[in-house]
Amino acid sequence: LILVIDYGSQYNQLITRRVRDLGVYSELHNPSISIEEIKELNPKGIILSGGPKSVYADDAYKVSEEIFDLGIPVLGICYGMQLITHTLGGEVIPSSEREFGPTDIQVDTSEEIFEGLNEFETVLMSHSDKVTEIPEGFKQIAHTPLCKFAGMKHESKPFYGVQFHPESKHSVNGDQFLKNFIRSVCGCTGEWTMDNFIEIEVEKIREQVGDKKVLCAMSGGVDSSVTAVLMHRAIGDQLTCIFVDHGLLRKGEGDMVMEQFGEGFNMNIIRVDAKDRFLSKLSGVSDPEKKRKIIGNEFIYVFDDEASKLTDVKFLAQGTLYTDIIESGTETATTIKSHHNVGGLPEDMQFQLIEPLNTLFKDEVRELGIELGIPEHLVWRQPFPGPGLGIRILGEITEEKLEIVRESDFILRDEVRKAGLEREIWQYFTVLPDIRSVGVMGDYRTYDYTIGIRAVTSIDGMTSEFARIDWDVLEKISKRIVNECQHINRVVYDVTSKPPATIEWE
Ligand code: XMP
Repeated sequence: LILVIDYGSQYNQLITRRVRDLGVYSELHNPSISIEEIKELNPKGIILSGGPKSVYADDAYKVSEEIFDLGIPVLGICYGMQLITHTLGGEVIPSSEREFGPTDIQVDTSEEIFEGLNEFETVLMSHSDKVTEIPEGFKQIAHTPLCKFAGMKHESKPFYGVQFHPESKHSVNGDQFLKNFIRSVCGCTGEWTMDNFIEIEVEKIREQVGDKKVLCAMSGGVDSSVTAVLMHRAIGDQLTCIFVDHGLLRKGEGDMVMEQFGEGFNMNIIRVDAKDRFLSKLSGVSDPEKKRKIIGNEFIYVFDDEASKLTDVKFLAQGTLYTDIIESGTETATTIKSHHNVGGLPEDMQFQLIEPLNTLFKDEVRELGIELGIPEHLVWRQPFPGPGLGIRILGEITEEKLEIVRESDFILRDEVRKAGLEREIWQYFTVLPDIRSVGVMGDYRTYDYTIGIRAVTSIDGMTSEFARIDWDVLEKISKRIVNECQHINRVVYDVTSKPPATIEWE
């Protein structure tokens, strides 16, 4: 394990990702992690991440000096390097010269950590504070024209600091640098793969569950399907999947789930038709967070009801991902939306949760799915949020609006598939904003709804760009939506990235 301590830079997850891609398991933790907790995790290396604050700020995150007595290699990146410097008696000063963007750096190639790199490299710099005096016992190992100490290392202990961001793709040989740290300095072997992830998880699940029964929240999406199949691999018929049709699903989805997993994988799946229950709870509610909470809560209540019909059910398995947990608010990241799987849980829930994917990123889940034998077209299905179409109808949800979103979404998916763009676009769907506008059809004035098309490219859903879909394809989609869906006289394309927008509109 490589422990990454998160000082708040929005790219910190990337460090964890890169380390995992290099075959070493890595976790991101809050700055409040104690020395005892670190000892328990027993990492082979610690990375102190970047962050937006100055080490001199009153509320600056600190690091305990004891971290340097654990005999574990430490690498500080950007703020992390400044923190090491500040903590061990060097000097960091605010600088008027900002160094931002791809920068040429000169590195000491005789150092183990720069093995395989060139003397001159391009790296991403993004800082204003800088180290002006390194702590005693350290030496300089890299510099740029503006930054004398762009890299430092301890003379005899495995402590390193770099001012640049090796996790960024703008640092051309950043991966090689990180690999040197985790392999040569920390001694990790780089054998972490999905195959041994399954082995380890299956063992963990069996140990935790014993002979008890588990319910799995199966939505048919990638995350819950992979969770269910992984759980099924571990405990077979002790698993019962409950597939709640909350009436907010896409067209044809319910039958597809039953066919693929019930019949195909031979899993116990109970299909619950709870549409009326959800719609009546949602009636008159237009606040997005309230809608999310209601859907999340109702979901669990439906489970409770189903569970009470079964005996001995002690656990609830959910497909919560690492990103869900991080976005729902760690100490350093502010809450953006309460994600259905995390923020929406009612307090009186009677199950113990099992979340076997909660250390994985989306593309790792896909890899895991393939490894578990789930067909490729399912594993590569676009993500679909727990609250379903409920958060794609802005404002109050009605049956009529649901029908419009469902049909327009179906048309969009059909045309994206025909254009062969399914893999290129991370997510594509339609939204129904709560506005009407004037149009003309035949000789008549119309006053009807607008459909928004959202299509984005992304790696993990944390950031995204709007997809550059061909005009001709968009035109076809637009025409079909207006012709085939009731009460639509206008179609617009969302051209915002995340940030500043989010992928879903609510
Ligand atoms: P946002 O809208 O936050 O979405 O940019 C990022 C990704 O997460 C999905 N999403 C959800 N997934 N429960 C989920 O399981 C939720 O409550 C939820 N909200 C958003 C969204 O579809 C996108 O892929």
